[in-house]
Amino acid sequence: MSELVIRDLHVKVEDQEILKGVSLTVRQGEIHALMGPNGSGKSTLAYTLMGHPAYEVTEGEVWFKGQNILELEPDERARMGLFLAFQYPVAIPGVTLANFLRMALNARLQGDGSGNRDGNDHKKTISIPEFRKLLKEKLALLEMDPSFARRYLNEGFSGGEKKRAEILQMAVLQPEIAILDETDSGLDIDALRIVANGVNALTGPDLGVLIITHYQRILNYIKPHFVHVMLNGRIVESGGPELALTLEEKGYDWVREKHAA
Ligand SMILES: Nc1ncnc2c1ncn2[C@@H]1O[C@H](COP(=O)(O)OP(=O)(O)OP(=O)(O)O)[C@@H](O)[C@H]1O
Ligand SMILES: [Mg+2]
Repeated sequence: MSELVIRDLHVKVEDQEILKGVSLTVRQGEIHALMGPNGSGKSTLAYTLMGHPAYEVTEGEVWFKGQNILELEPDERARMGLFLAFQYPVAIPGVTLANFLRMALNARLQGDGSGNRDGNDHKKTISIPEFRKLLKEKLALLEMDPSFARRYLNEGFSGGEKKRAEILQMAVLQPEIAILDETDSGLDIDALRIVANGVNALTGPDLGVLIITHYQRILNYIKPHFVHVMLNGRIVESGGPELALTLEEKGYDWVREKHAA
């Protein structure tokens, strides 16, 4: 079983300490929700886990599948089965979504050099017909029009379309641990249901999810086992799904009072 273990993580951005000792473990098969006020450090945690160079780890450890990943490049982490759906996906003009996904999947199938998911490190690639079939299936899962795949990645996509494209990526790459950074923001009511159902179809014993969100609403669809609250660079509260309901009802004032610095 794969697990992502974060221990006492401290992270600096432009000489300012943003994460001040975060500890969290996400195992395959578990769904964790991470909530917290704007600017509390949720995306910083997501970027740091994925290896964004602007985020400097000054203290602490991150282990994934028994390996310390802090020295690894983002693509190496991705090949191991770690995935991040961005809060603000970027456009790549000139690269179609389909080509991007096929290249990403082929890279993922090559494994991390230490043996891939079936324990062998044989170099696999997916054939074009096989890939087309897979893509078609995943587009249908997310109720996306097949013409999407022929468009340039995120170029001119609406906010909601970008979020769906992120989940499509996750569906194609089949990560072991996925971090979803505000995948629900900007989605209309129908799109929220479709994306949530898509995520649900992917969850199960093989996938661990850390879902960053401001709203309890998406948690009605994607039922978390654990809910955490980040405040000022620390996880200050952890509980079950009821914690999200409490936050929805009472806001963050009580959390701020309880954990006043
Ligand atoms: N690349 C960066 N350069 C400068 N400051 C940064 C950078 N990344 C994060 N920060 C700062 O770190 C703090 C935490 O930001 P972060 O994006 O992690 O918050 P968040 O919890 O994801 O907020 P939101 O709910 O609004 O998405 C903010 O004060 C932000 O300005
Ligand atoms: Mg954020």
